Amino acid sequence: MKSLKLAVIGGGSSYTPELIEGIINRIDRLPVTRIDLIDVEAGREKLEIVTQLAQRMIARSGLNIEVRHSLDRREAIQGASFVMTQLRVGGLEARARDEHIPLKYKVIGQETTGPGGFAKALRTIPVILDICKDMEELAPDAWLINFTNPAGMVTEAVHKYSSIKALGLCNVPINMHHQTAEALGASVDRVKVNFAGLNHLVWMSNIRLDGRDVTHKVIEMLCDGAHMNMNNIHESPWDPAFLQSLGVVPCPYHRYFYMQDDMLEEELESAASTGTRAEVVMKTEQELFRLYQNPELAEKPRQLEQRGGAYYSDVSLNLVDALYNDTSAINVVNTVNNGAISNLPDDAVVEISAVIDSAGAHPITQGTLPENQIGLARSVKAYEQQAIEAAVKGDYGLALQALVANPLVPSARVAKLILDDILEQNADYLPQFQ
Ligand code: G6P
Repeated sequence: MKSLKLAVIGGGSSYTPELIEGIINRIDRLPVTRIDLIDVEAGREKLEIVTQLAQRMIARSGLNIEVRHSLDRREAIQGASFVMTQLRVGGLEARARDEHIPLKYKVIGQETTGPGGFAKALRTIPVILDICKDMEELAPDAWLINFTNPAGMVTEAVHKYSSIKALGLCNVPINMHHQTAEALGASVDRVKVNFAGLNHLVWMSNIRLDGRDVTHKVIEMLCDGAHMNMNNIHESPWDPAFLQSLGVVPCPYHRYFYMQDDMLEEELESAASTGTRAEVVMKTEQELFRLYQNPELAEKPRQLEQRGGAYYSDVSLNLVDALYNDTSAINVVNTVNNGAISNLPDDAVVEISAVIDSAGAHPITQGTLPENQIGLARSVKAYEQQAIEAAVKGDYGLALQALVANPLVPSARVAKLILDDILEQNADYLPQFQ
């Protein structure tokens, strides 16, 4: 009988019950017999709580899936067909620092975009590359499915510095697709969309309802205030003239670039009142883990929907399904460009609609991205590529150049102030800079 083992690194995450629910729902397509949830010592308590909830969910489903937890990731990687990474180096405390440091200098403070995402990349890339080394030794044919943010940069680092087969994922495209269908009053399967760009900087185009192009109609609906956003982002309304002339649908994270002033103002206000997003999430997490400890609970609680990760398990398990069952389904993934977007570097990891089969992702050729998109995409990619090198090499000069290249950073002076603050406040997590 076929059997699949999944290793989930960062398994103590509050999102894990959603993944378990997704596995239960797909058991006909994915013969999972073992799930290893892995975490680090600091996450032991959460890991144990989540594992017990996962075991109750499996028991209630009547399926024969063994759920184990461990702090030994090597043991978990051995024999795994898919290794899923969903970890957060330094936990939510580090995220809170990532959000606060830039705000001190009146710069966007966000966990994946701008200097906050940069700090996260510096902490995370070496850890993921270590995981890849273990995979090269213990499970060289396994797929790495990376959800860890900044997902595009992390996935590019893996492609550049490891031989492991890897795809990066994000739940933004699937949310945009669902919200588009909702705005159109149609079921998701009637609506086809195309995505191209970078992670958290992806544009949706060529929107079709039953085959008919409705891109402009959807843009009109957004101009009239149709909802399209993620729970973790403030929904500042788009300027209609801007959106109409853009001609495609930007992702919610584009607000940090296209509406930098509004978003910064809102972030500064929130930080001084309710706290930054990390601080809000810390409270939600406490509530979630209190619920998870209830021995009667054997399903994913509704409260998890307050987080920004909606549909995350659909995204990852649809991908696993396509890879495992060789379906040629179209999924949106982070993968090597290789000419699919002809005016971005070949070696850049892009976020793009792709045909997925057992050989991997085959990005759908986009030609050139239009002038009004490519400028931003190129600058962000130039920042990302320098930041990846800085994260791997621990090189101060490269790190400074990367931050200066980030379009959300106003000057070399501010970049240096932020960089020094990041290095000081993250010293425990950045051995490569010591
Ligand atoms: C969105 C992003 C994810 C991110 C999440 C944060 O969904 O696509 O990359 O991890 O939001 O949500 P949170 O509830 O932690 O703020």
